[in-house]
Amino acid sequence: MRTGRPVRCFWMGEAKLELYRSIQITSDGELEIGGCRATRLARDFGTPLHVMDEEMIRAKSREIRTSLLKYYPKAFVAYASKAFCTLAMCRLIHEESLGLDVCSGGELFTALEAGIPPENILFHGNCKTRQEIEMGVRVGVGRFIIDNLDELDLLSEVSRKSRKRTHVQIRLNPGVEAHTHDYIKTGLIDSKFGLGITDGQAMKAVERVLASEYLVLEGVHSHIGSQILNVEPFVLAAQVVMDFAGDVKEKFGYSLREVNLGGGFGVRYKSCDTPLSIDEYSKRVSQVIRESCHTQRLDLPCVMVEPGRYIVGEAGTTLYTVCAIKDIPGLRKYIMVDGGMSENPRVALYQAEYEAVLANKATEEPTETVSIAGKHCEEGDMLVVDAKMPQVKPGDLLALLTTGAYHYSMASNYNRYPRPAVIFAKAGLADIVVERETYANLVARDRMPARLAQVDATGIYPHLPAAGNPR
Ligand code: LLP
Repeated sequence: MRTGRPVRCFWMGEAKLELYRSIQITSDGELEIGGCRATRLARDFGTPLHVMDEEMIRAKSREIRTSLLKYYPKAFVAYASKAFCTLAMCRLIHEESLGLDVCSGGELFTALEAGIPPENILFHGNCKTRQEIEMGVRVGVGRFIIDNLDELDLLSEVSRKSRKRTHVQIRLNPGVEAHTHDYIKTGLIDSKFGLGITDGQAMKAVERVLASEYLVLEGVHSHIGSQILNVEPFVLAAQVVMDFAGDVKEKFGYSLREVNLGGGFGVRYKSCDTPLSIDEYSKRVSQVIRESCHTQRLDLPCVMVEPGRYIVGEAGTTLYTVCAIKDIPGLRKYIMVDGGMSENPRVALYQAEYEAVLANKATEEPTETVSIAGKHCEEGDMLVVDAKMPQVKPGDLLALLTTGAYHYSMASNYNRYPRPAVIFAKAGLADIVVERETYANLVARDRMPARLAQVDATGIYPHLPAAGNPR
């Protein structure tokens, strides 16, 4: 039975109930996501399991759109599909009237298969291949975001050969530092992304696009990094971008119609995190743009943003079964679960920190400090170090929170471990949006060269001794 009580033992306090309303605890102390009991989901679909709270994804999508439009008249939100890209997700985003940012042929293909109109798609990437550029031009994506001068030339050539006019934004490197992990900072001058403003490359790109017969310059783009919790670097970047727009106007008499400020909105992984305030972001950034337009006599451009993590991060929960416990007296208690760095590489890659809940004992008070380890053959395969937990036993169900972004999309088959299923949960209904991989899937694309298939290995390699018959 559902009680409607907020989860008590972790960070979803009363204040945040509005957005987290669909994660609750049942009267008998079980975690419930989107009206579905975690234990039922685990029983029906197996573990590890990614559960996405559909209502929360929708709520976050609407929050960003309405907030921007509250402060600014022309806004376009494109979901950065790299955070989590499946057919159902693309479809949902389209239903919520958002566009889509893709950064590979695979993401573009998924979006098109899901029925996203190509004109709502922004095509990113610092190393688009000729094949990807041809694909984007052929289907007519809404915007190409040009990342470097070689891409510009190739795009111009492909567009000319196809006799298609391609609408572009130029990705600037604003030289703004955001306080986040080094691997996900992208706005520094020493970055593989974007064209430098200070070294004149960005202006050179503007000149070339304006001179090109088949490229249409719509605007400029900047993305300074990911998981940014503070509005200031965004405000700074917006100012840099607007100054550049002013320079373009001055130099070429050309008014940019679009200013794309990328994504990077930080979310809550741990109780102590305060997510970026979208309202404050919208207010401050709109103000910078309006003021810049006023002082530099520019027309108000359309403001675009590309949130990924903000839309799906907190909506995702991963369920694991506890398989074994190893207690090293006086040192550490390891709780081993049936997943790990194959579906969550973020801990090993960025030292990311998470919070976990025992989904079948969600109201029990924490009594001990444990570390949650994955099942992969790496000592670094940890999910949480030093988590406060109630007494954990093999067979318990563990829920790792805020796993909606950059988990499924970054998962691997390390140790030939099949990737988990993904579920959309909503109002008590659970739908599979990605099937769990099978062992057969794992070998489906393996090929056995004929010369290996023909060799009878018996007699060449020694076999293990038969049981009970030691050598
Ligand atoms: N736009 C561009 C051009 C991007 O490169 C990205 C992310 C986004 C938008 C969306 O950023 P978001 O709103 O999700 O922060 N794998 C890392 C994150 C890498 C982000 C790459 N670019 C992680 O797990 O933290």
